[in-house]
Amino acid sequence: MGGRRIIKAAALLIALGYSSLLVYQGGVNFNFQESRSVQVADLSIEPVTKTTTLDSGQSKNITLDDIFISVKTTKHYQHTRLPILLKTWFQLAKKQTWFFTDIDNQQLQNQTNGHMVNTNCSASHQRKHLCCKMSVEYDHFLESGKKWFCHFDDDNYVNVPRLVSILKTYNHQEDWYLGRTSVYEPVKIYKKPTSKLLFSFWFATGGAGFCISRSLALKMLPVASGGRFISICEGIRLPDDVSMGFIIEHLMKKNLTRVPEFHSHLEQMKLLSPETFRDQISFSYSKSKNGWNVINVPGFDTRYDPTRFLSLHCFLFPHFKFCPR
Ligand SMILES: *[C@@H]1O[C@H](CO)[C@@H](O)[C@H](O)[C@H]1NC(C)=O
Ligand SMILES: *[C@@H]1O[C@H](CO)[C@@H](O)[C@H](O)[C@H]1NC(C)=O
Ligand SMILES: *[C@@H]1O[C@H](CO)[C@@H](O)[C@H](O)[C@H]1NC(C)=O
Ligand SMILES: *[C@@H]1O[C@H](CO)[C@@H](O)[C@H](O)[C@H]1NC(C)=O
Repeated sequence: MGGRRIIKAAALLIALGYSSLLVYQGGVNFNFQESRSVQVADLSIEPVTKTTTLDSGQSKNITLDDIFISVKTTKHYQHTRLPILLKTWFQLAKKQTWFFTDIDNQQLQNQTNGHMVNTNCSASHQRKHLCCKMSVEYDHFLESGKKWFCHFDDDNYVNVPRLVSILKTYNHQEDWYLGRTSVYEPVKIYKKPTSKLLFSFWFATGGAGFCISRSLALKMLPVASGGRFISICEGIRLPDDVSMGFIIEHLMKKNLTRVPEFHSHLEQMKLLSPETFRDQISFSYSKSKNGWNVINVPGFDTRYDPTRFLSLHCFLFPHFKFCPR
């Protein structure tokens, strides 16, 4: 595959040492204490020529239809997490949302009007397989021709109108990487054995959702398209969202723009106040031995709606049929 083209470029040998870097990701602690030599392709990225014909006012005039919403899921959650999404926010973005999973399910395919993509990636939670899905998501976005790529997880509630209104304030013809960080320090890459800091970068937590403009996604094409994203992940041995940050911040030299309206379950959901729900782009939940980490929203009984997403949906969109009136 085209990967060879990159390998042809002078390979840069970087000794990576992740000294005591802790990244909290999806409730799992990854502790990078290892050090190893990794080949990272030295990438000469040709700048994509900017279209200057459209004025910025026009290019900002985006609608929901300009957004490619991808949701990473797995067969393990097809009967638990997915039905909640399908009943709620998916109904507001049926044509724009695609689910990236690892199994064929005729019923879900039917309910989503064919928007389930079997990535053929393994269903395991290993880095390689999560990177595999992200890679397929990115490739599908490129093919879609849409202006924004927004990735979410299957434990996210996406406030669709708010996603659109926030993206309207950024120009998709410029390079934008929008999301939320969940670590207090950037990821630091050290050179061994001298422990000299080689570089550092921030990344947007995948579990909160993030968006990438088409302009930026196209610039990433030589390093990330056609499955090359997986090679990068494997090369630097970091999770999919961290690898995305590495590609964008380090290789593309485009910094993450922090958008605090994205939320993952790494935050305490109950700290979000209902008066601000309308302003948020995404919500999440998690369950641990200490109980549920969920937003505090009035509505259905917690036994019926433990994730609070049904109640949240009715809070935001009370006209839905299943909402009490
Ligand atoms: C901007 O959006 C509005 C409403 O979606 C549409 O009517 C109008 O034609 C658009 N303008 C441009 C310049 O695309
Ligand atoms: C898909 O849905 C339609 C109507 O919604 C139904 O008639 C059909 O039997 C369904 N097919 C499958 C495979 O579930
Ligand atoms: C997964 O495999 C099937 C069967 O080989 C193929 O039709 C489909 O296109 C593959 N999906 C992706 C995303 O490559
Ligand atoms: C990107 O962020 C780094 C710090 O993380 C900063 O040093 C650099 O100036 C930023 N670059 C731009 C273009 O803002």
